[in-house]
Amino acid sequence: MESLSTGIKGLDMLMDGGYPKGKSILVTGPPGSGKTILGIHFLHRNCNEGRKCTLVLTRELTEDILSQSRSLNLDLKPFLESGRLTIRNIFEDKMNKIKSASKFGKGLCAVDTDIIEYLSSISSEVDVVVIDNIGVMAINHDIREFADEFSSISIILLKNGCTTLFVMDEDSYDLTHRLTGYMVFGLIRLTSQENFSSGKTKKYLYIEKMRDKAVPVRYSLFDITPEGIQIITSMK
Ligand SMILES: Nc1ncnc2c1ncn2[C@@H]1O[C@H](COP(=O)(O)OP(=O)(O)OP(=O)(O)O)[C@@H](O)[C@H]1O
Ligand SMILES: [Mg+2]
Repeated sequence: MESLSTGIKGLDMLMDGGYPKGKSILVTGPPGSGKTILGIHFLHRNCNEGRKCTLVLTRELTEDILSQSRSLNLDLKPFLESGRLTIRNIFEDKMNKIKSASKFGKGLCAVDTDIIEYLSSISSEVDVVVIDNIGVMAINHDIREFADEFSSISIILLKNGCTTLFVMDEDSYDLTHRLTGYMVFGLIRLTSQENFSSGKTKKYLYIEKMRDKAVPVRYSLFDITPEGIQIITSMK
């Protein structure tokens, strides 16, 4: 199966070349674990390789992501300016709409139909999609509604042949009974382990599943450096 580079050398090695082309991968983990940075690496590398990429943001400001990418030496702004990267900020769009309707934030969380509408109209030329953070869809929904919506999004992207990275915060992942883990082709979990005596935190990446690839079943120690995520060692 053809792969697209994750943008992280050590992770490409663990995954036999990268993310499976045309499939959906879910990355989950607690706040600050590196989910957004994983998405930035993926976008930066694939824009660099000439692919058309789209980033859908549901919680963060576009300017914050751009400045985070710049600080990691993975600047996304030139790709945005050249049109190779499109950023659709569902959260900011909604906020502007609500502000103009003077509803004081009511309905700000309900962005799922906006995501589906946007993806339904996505160009067939788009190769790579990152959605950060799909967890907003878990709010105000029962599990069946959430599953229906997540399925429609997955099907739209699969039919379009997009290689997709879904970012989902761990709380929403647990809240939805980890259902999304079954619905995607691959699942990567980021975890951290605090050592109270040394005051240091160790970060681990675990490829819980990757259909069609023989991935090592082990936790890989990684670090977030000024150049982004670096895989340090793999634990058997
Ligand atoms: N330039 C940098 N150099 C070193 N570490 C950094 C740098 N930029 C970010 N970090 C580290 O990465 C963490 C943030 O990573 P990231 O934004 O990917 O987390 P996240 O999993 O997306 O969190 P959230 O769930 O809150 O969105 C920061 O807490 C910080 O520790
Ligand atoms: Mg994030």
